[in-house]
Amino acid sequence: MLKQFCLVCGMFEKLRHKWKVDSTQLFLVITTFAVGGSLTGIAARKLMTLLPVQQAVLWTILYIIIMTLTWPVMVLVVSIPLGQFPFFKNYLARIASRISGSPHKTENVNPHKVMPQNMNIAIFASGAGSNARKIIEHFSSHPQIKIALVVCNKPGAGVLDIAAEHGIPTLLIEKEQFFRGDTYLPQLKDKGIGFIVLAGFLWKIPAALIAAFPHHIINIHPALLPKYGGKGMYGSYVHEAVIAAGEKESGITIHYVDEQYDHGGTIFQATCPVEPGDTPASLAQRIHSLEHAHYPAVIEQTILSQLVKNH
Ligand code: GAR
Repeated sequence: MLKQFCLVCGMFEKLRHKWKVDSTQLFLVITTFAVGGSLTGIAARKLMTLLPVQQAVLWTILYIIIMTLTWPVMVLVVSIPLGQFPFFKNYLARIASRISGSPHKTENVNPHKVMPQNMNIAIFASGAGSNARKIIEHFSSHPQIKIALVVCNKPGAGVLDIAAEHGIPTLLIEKEQFFRGDTYLPQLKDKGIGFIVLAGFLWKIPAALIAAFPHHIINIHPALLPKYGGKGMYGSYVHEAVIAAGEKESGITIHYVDEQYDHGGTIFQATCPVEPGDTPASLAQRIHSLEHAHYPAVIEQTILSQLVKNH
């Protein structure tokens, strides 16, 4: 029983990937097929009563022809109230093109409304990787965006275990090679990387890498830039400085990466209070929650809007 249930779940999961839909849309698509199919049967039988055909073989042939012609109309009609008209229009066009042998241009059937291209991300991280985990989980079944590589500069860093847990390839980089700027470009190219996300990555990004990914590298900083950024300002050093300065508020900044530390254009900021009696550890915890809540979604929005612009 359990085995059969797992088989069915696996089948639905395959369909979801094949049709590039989320679970809700998969349910609506299957419902459209079921309701459209039943209405086709009813309509075909009604139409057959209008035809003066008795002979069994002829009746069956005509019935099949009527079913074949009625089915596309029925599923399209049912798909409208279920909000699946674009999916079925595209689906039927694909069937028609297969029958006629002419190529069909795929249309957007995605809940995100944009399907121009796909994007492979590399996450660069140096530490525990709690942000990397949230990002990996967020994109684990995304129709367009895939975490294709985790780049790390520290053997034994927690982020490497997280990557392994999710079957994501890792690249361990070496300082001198990295600061040459272009040494690791072939590995990034090899994985089809189009966007780089820094998640607690503590080395400065060299100019050649920025030039290879213009406006396609973003970073998260655990404070409200331009305050408390720059060389040496990372992790608990940032929180110590914020508390020492008596700030009432801190937060996170997600920004494009340029050739200076914590400097490129801001994409997003969110704030949280600094409570009396906060320690760097307690503030770090609040900041981490803010990061986990926002970073994956901001990455997604940034990439999708770039894909639409470049389309
Ligand atoms: C995060 O808080 C991130 O903002 C910070 O390192 C932490 C990494 O945590 N980055 C910087 O300070 C960069 N200047 P994580 O490894 O658990 O994601």
